[in-house]
Amino acid sequence: MTAPRHFHNPQSSPARRYGPAESAVLDRAGMAAARHDLEAWPGYAPTPLLDLAQAAHRLGVGRIWYKDEAHRFGLNSFKAMGAPYAVLRFLRGIIAKRGGAIDATVGDIAAGKYRDATRDVVVTSATDGNHGRAVAWGAEVLGCRAVIYIHEHVSPGREQAIARYGAEVRRVKGNYDESVRRCAADAKANNWQVISDTSYDGYMAIPRDVMHGYMALAEEAANQLPEGAVPTHALIQAGVGGLAAAFCAAFWLRWGEQRPRFVVVEPDKADCCYRSAVAGKPTTTPGDLDTVMAGLAAGEISPLAWTVLKAGADDFVTLDDEYASRAMRLLAETKPAVVAGESGAAGIACLIAAQEHPALARALGLDGSSRVMLVGSEGATDPELYFKLVGRKPQDVAR
Ligand SMILES: Cc1ncc(COP(=O)(O)O)c(C=O)c1O
Repeated sequence: MTAPRHFHNPQSSPARRYGPAESAVLDRAGMAAARHDLEAWPGYAPTPLLDLAQAAHRLGVGRIWYKDEAHRFGLNSFKAMGAPYAVLRFLRGIIAKRGGAIDATVGDIAAGKYRDATRDVVVTSATDGNHGRAVAWGAEVLGCRAVIYIHEHVSPGREQAIARYGAEVRRVKGNYDESVRRCAADAKANNWQVISDTSYDGYMAIPRDVMHGYMALAEEAANQLPEGAVPTHALIQAGVGGLAAAFCAAFWLRWGEQRPRFVVVEPDKADCCYRSAVAGKPTTTPGDLDTVMAGLAAGEISPLAWTVLKAGADDFVTLDDEYASRAMRLLAETKPAVVAGESGAAGIACLIAAQEHPALARALGLDGSSRVMLVGSEGATDPELYFKLVGRKPQDVAR
């Protein structure tokens, strides 16, 4: 097992204001618009913010607040707050262009009022599993088509979970970044709309929508805290960094100088945010990124996420896969028992690593008085893998 790595970001400081560069990526108005639409989405309900007292005691911190996204829209991950919102915004534009309402509501679109304008529209995306599933679901709810690209390492279970929502699924040789390139090329050739959670040159508007959706989730979590409580730490997992940047921005805007110390957590085999922070500029992780934390297996940080995290994230930590499975087991054993997938358990994995490596705990300022915010970003999105790593079926743990 490789030891955790830690980098303290010299660019961050509590006094630093949320500035124009960050506001150009994510802002309050964008977050409010996302909240408005997502709260009107059919079947919307806030996910629970769990107070994991027993886990906190075991891990030597004062408090753990765990935003449990396993329950999000029946989709099993936080991704339902991002891509479907971007699909909604895109379809709204198409409906307006084709002579429908200027600002069609999510309820009307989902009810099929504009089906003539939307049914031939194709949205497409590359995915490790969860994002593509969310795109497919959003397309199904809103009445358009989806073509989803997956890479070599995506499990058959995750593939089926996408196909279930009526999407066409295409498997590509190579890693996540290669599936992104194939998706972009096919979209260009066929005039499909890419709904990506990562940004690249000339493609910023849609990933911004996705991230504003994630900000709405961060705000939902903050609103569930006990009256007056502010976490001392937020430990947020990263793939391309969209989720982490959205939480960072939401907490920065909400709490200013009082904001929690912000720690980005990644698998050590897919550490593009860590590498970028060390180098002070976006830096790629080479190789096949083969980590059990499939949702975090990204080799290139999203430029939009980088704009926020480069000054907003205080620390970057990388973890061996072994910590993820230990974290899943710990969550399954504590009361209340929590079902977390490999990527969902990353925050707990970081706390386990910090307990085992006192130097890491000291470097992160974690101790018995810490109040830690985590995102359980997925439930058992791959039940077979869950059983292999935890030794129990997710439904038995949940019971
Ligand atoms: C379960 C889970 N958690 C976290 C992430 C990381 O999100 P991001 O790629 O925006 O950093 C992902 C991304 O796919 C995921 O599926």
